[in-house]
Amino acid sequence: MIAGNDKSPVKALNINLQENYRPIVERDIITSLKKRIREDSSFFNDGLSGRQYYREKIYLMLSGIINSDFAALNFHIDEKMLEKALSEIFGLGALEKYLSDEKITDIFIQDTEMLVIKDGNKEFLGKVFETIEDVYLLIDRIKLASGKTVDQRVPFLNTELYDGSRCSVVIPPVSDRVYITVRVFNCLDFKLENLMKLKMFDSFVFGLLKEFVLSKKNILIAGCTGSGKTTLLNTLVKLVPKNEIINLIQDLPEIKCSNHPYARMLTTRPKSRETDNEINQDRLVFETLRMKADRIILGEVRDHMAAYQLLQALNTGHNGSFSTIHADSCYDALMRLEMLAMEYRTNLSSRAVKKIVARAIDAVLFLEFESDKESGSKYRKIKEIVEVEDELDKRGDYRLIYH
Ligand SMILES: Nc1ncnc2c1ncn2[C@@H]1O[C@H](COP(=O)(O)OP(=O)(O)OP(=O)(O)O)[C@@H](O)[C@H]1O
Ligand SMILES: [Mg+2]
Repeated sequence: MIAGNDKSPVKALNINLQENYRPIVERDIITSLKKRIREDSSFFNDGLSGRQYYREKIYLMLSGIINSDFAALNFHIDEKMLEKALSEIFGLGALEKYLSDEKITDIFIQDTEMLVIKDGNKEFLGKVFETIEDVYLLIDRIKLASGKTVDQRVPFLNTELYDGSRCSVVIPPVSDRVYITVRVFNCLDFKLENLMKLKMFDSFVFGLLKEFVLSKKNILIAGCTGSGKTTLLNTLVKLVPKNEIINLIQDLPEIKCSNHPYARMLTTRPKSRETDNEINQDRLVFETLRMKADRIILGEVRDHMAAYQLLQALNTGHNGSFSTIHADSCYDALMRLEMLAMEYRTNLSSRAVKKIVARAIDAVLFLEFESDKESGSKYRKIKEIVEVEDELDKRGDYRLIYH
């Protein structure tokens, strides 16, 4: 018989050998891969590149190892092996598959079950983990990678995963079940052009946004959760001229600005077992004022003290600052900011705070989900854009110019 013929016993033997020894060979290849990664100090430096990038990089590295060390075996990489390698390196097991699906923006794990948001719609996937131990194992890996703890004493963990995804964990008895929530950093190329292609706005708004950033307007981005506020903020930051100093204040480093030479990242710190002094947004806004930044970017206005301090900072010469806020319209966003500031300065009248807000904020963008009539899938859109005049109207309300 001629070797190479499909019915050849030689070939059959080769296949059998491969099938029998595949797990062992696979193990060896993945071990070599891990060794190479350990030796490559720059491997994890591309944090910005996201999940798909690492998937491709690992695939190429595996192919390289097979070609150089296992060439005789005619071994090929299948999806399962790639998954295995990824989860061993990044340590997120069953999560990996969902993190790399570009259509998935949110993952909710409740004990062994999973729910995802795909194309803006909820999809219940049922049981994804075999046992609750697998879920705790996943939490252990997240803990290990972040260097943070979650236990009976501090049953919450907020961190980012290796690809920039935002992750929160809550464990019983504070909750009835284990809850893991992931906001997937789905490696969108954060450019305005890119968001325009995704129908977030048209070319007119594209020009307007550029003009807002370059003319140093203070911009508030409003919307419900998941509406794309942080993503839009990320793209606007990229338009800031390179000679300006930016201070970025966030809870987790979601806004990426590694290409900007003067971007300074400040991250809040909750109380934990390792660090018992909490560092809040307001403290970071305060420090920022001393650091003399040209622009202050506050990832999300949440804290009443920080809201007030931000308003003060914006009224004392900081222009071109951006922030996001949970709100249902542009007007609602201004009201929410006003309420937060009033919670802090209870002695101020509503009119006085409105005046401070009106002088501080120049423009508000409101994002909302829209449904595509044909496909039924959802997309994110800037629904409202207003410019806020410095002076209030006769009734003491905001003067808004709608675009
Ligand atoms: N225009 C878009 N098209 C497709 N996906 C998008 C778009 N904008 C954002 N996303 C994705 O949607 C998810 C939510 O976006 P983002 O984190 O910006 O929302 P958010 O409004 O800041 O949410 P939160 O209020 O929870 O902070 C992310 O996974 C992001 O990558
Ligand atoms: Mg956000």
